[in-house]
Amino acid sequence: MKNISIAIDGPSAAGKSTIAKMVAKKKNYIYIDTGAMYRSVALYCLNHHIDLNDEGEIKKHLENIHIKMDQNNHIYLNDEDVSETIRQDEVSLAASKVSIHPSVRSFLVEQQRNMAASKNVILDGRDIGTVVLPQASLKIYQIASVETRALRRFKENKERGMDVDLETIKKEIEERDYQDMHREVSPLKKADDAIEIDTSDLSLDEVVEQVLKLINKVEEE
Ligand code: DC
Repeated sequence: MKNISIAIDGPSAAGKSTIAKMVAKKKNYIYIDTGAMYRSVALYCLNHHIDLNDEGEIKKHLENIHIKMDQNNHIYLNDEDVSETIRQDEVSLAASKVSIHPSVRSFLVEQQRNMAASKNVILDGRDIGTVVLPQASLKIYQIASVETRALRRFKENKERGMDVDLETIKKEIEERDYQDMHREVSPLKKADDAIEIDTSDLSLDEVVEQVLKLINKVEEE
């Protein structure tokens, strides 16, 4: 049987990981959260007081950064469970900053390709359809308005018990959009053969249903 790989790309807080997790569970695919990997590198830099703009310094530390994921979507940085810590706003912005460095990207892209090999997988990120898996069986580009994304993130963070302010979240999302779309290496952009889904006015179940239909079609081909 052929292996199927699904790429879900799109801007921050568009709900990619929620959808990818739900779909992976339904289809029994492996879910790979590539953003969590950039977040883990960022957290390592913050913990070790490494300048996020200093690619040379970061590069020296890459061999000491070991990232693992388990089947429950927990992320381990050098064997420490950082699943919650990497969701902090400070880490989100730092992840966007470290992700501009080509050496960080190639370090993680290689691991992502290895993780995706010879399995049925769903990866979400910014460059999955364009760079990591240009031959993916199905590419989805998931978007939503800034207002919708800010409100979703606001509710999520509140539920996590975090101290949050809607306007600040909105500004941070806009800042990350700009950074992710304007970096030189692998900027966020829709692959030519990706299918765009605007989730602004759709419920989670509606998006999942659309994606499942697309996957079923690919499985039948
Ligand atoms: O998906 P996320 O919000 O967890 O990603 C955090 C940051 O990592 C995001 O601002 C940009 C970067 N990223 C990336 O450059 N490429 C990916 N494939 C995934 C994330």
